[in-house]
Amino acid sequence: MPKGSILVVDDESEIREGLELLLTSEGYGVSSAGTAESGLAKLEERPFDLLLLDVSLPDRNGLDLLKEIHRRDPHLSVVLITAYGSIDMARAAFKSGAMDYITKPWSNDELLAQVAQAVESRRLREENVQLKRALKQRFSFPSIIGKSEKMLTLLDLVTQVAPSRSTILISGESGTGKELIAKAIHSASTRADKAFVPVNTGSIPVDLLESQLFGHVKGAFTSAVASKKGLFEVADQGTIFFDEIATISPETQAKLLRVIQEREFMRLGGTEQIKVDVRIVAASNVELLTLVREGRFREDLYHRLNVIHLTLPPLRDRREDVPSLLAHFLIRYCQENNKPLRNFTPAALKLLMDYDWPGNVRELENVVERAVVLSTQERVDVDLLPPQQGNCPRRPPAALRVSAAAARGAWLPVWRGPLKPFALPDHGRNRTPHHRRYA
Ligand SMILES: Nc1ncnc2c1ncn2[C@@H]1O[C@H](COP(=O)(O)OP(=O)(O)OP(=O)(O)O)[C@@H](O)[C@H]1O
Ligand SMILES: [Mg+2]
Repeated sequence: MPKGSILVVDDESEIREGLELLLTSEGYGVSSAGTAESGLAKLEERPFDLLLLDVSLPDRNGLDLLKEIHRRDPHLSVVLITAYGSIDMARAAFKSGAMDYITKPWSNDELLAQVAQAVESRRLREENVQLKRALKQRFSFPSIIGKSEKMLTLLDLVTQVAPSRSTILISGESGTGKELIAKAIHSASTRADKAFVPVNTGSIPVDLLESQLFGHVKGAFTSAVASKKGLFEVADQGTIFFDEIATISPETQAKLLRVIQEREFMRLGGTEQIKVDVRIVAASNVELLTLVREGRFREDLYHRLNVIHLTLPPLRDRREDVPSLLAHFLIRYCQENNKPLRNFTPAALKLLMDYDWPGNVRELENVVERAVVLSTQERVDVDLLPPQQGNCPRRPPAALRVSAAAARGAWLPVWRGPLKPFALPDHGRNRTPHHRRYA
């Protein structure tokens, strides 16, 4: 592997050839260009660690070019090649963001030392940026575990979009952490000290959902003995989160569209328009656009919701997050169950790393919780894992794939562990008193 990649931009062919020869013999990968234009084209093609740039190019002033290059890649190290070597040139070079400059004619030893320093500095800057990024996110979102590039990119986006009032649509398979991300958006926004109101639209009949969302006035229906605020009013100044938005009925879709557009609504049976300032975040584990094409979801509402779209990657596409998630839940459930800290045996860890996780993080959390509850040893071994983890190939054929919902609890009835099999009423989504008692 080359020590670093260097682009030489100089209009004099002897200089380009001389530098190519010198730097290649030192183990660097070198490309060169004779004009500013072709230099820029090379920088577009692939990343370089260092640019050696002649300040007096025929087609462009080198200092101007440098500014443009830094706008595109602020971390690229640049060393200017100049014929004059005046103090003024040095000052201008540093001001334009160059790291250093060399004057023609140069001593090869000095040039190589400058090049080595510039390449190293680029490497350190990049390492630093990556470390800071992971650290910042660890502080910004302490409850979200994930160091994979996919999760870091998603969290960067969350940081970026959280402060605005824009509506956000979060899509992702069941159990990938959509609600967790919705909460993170709320806590990173200026609304953090106001309410975060989750609405599970899937489990509520239409009439009840509308009365829950918009409230009702006294006498609006038989059992409405008093006026009641709806969740939109409760969430005023805060965030309302629609879990499983795809399940809402066409009537409620129309009303929701109106609230998003007008920011006002009427309580059921009421005549007065109520104004609210609510940020809307919606989640879906089915592809909403498909439902739009099938005529099952309003296209206008889809566009209103889809102002910013975040996609949560399934766990099998970010396996590098599995060990830290296992450790995170192991600590949590050991503390909750008052058990000494346990670890996984290498064999158990391998099975868990290879498993396909159709139920994603929720499934992983449940597996760890059960292992902790059932374990009597210091370490969690294969015998404490559900059968799937041992039997499931990395990519099971479609016919063998269970739905995510089924996967959350599917193995429980066939449990062959040391304790009696048991099933949880809600697959661990909400920890019920029954569950707590059992755990
Ligand atoms: N990156 C993560 N770090 C820590 N915990 C996580 C992470 N992702 C998910 N979880 C946990 O996994 C469980 C499921 O997450 P969540 O409820 O947010 O998923 P979901 O995508 O909304 O699922 P569903 O589609 O079934 O509603 C929760 O207990 C959540 O705290
Ligand atoms: Mg959810």
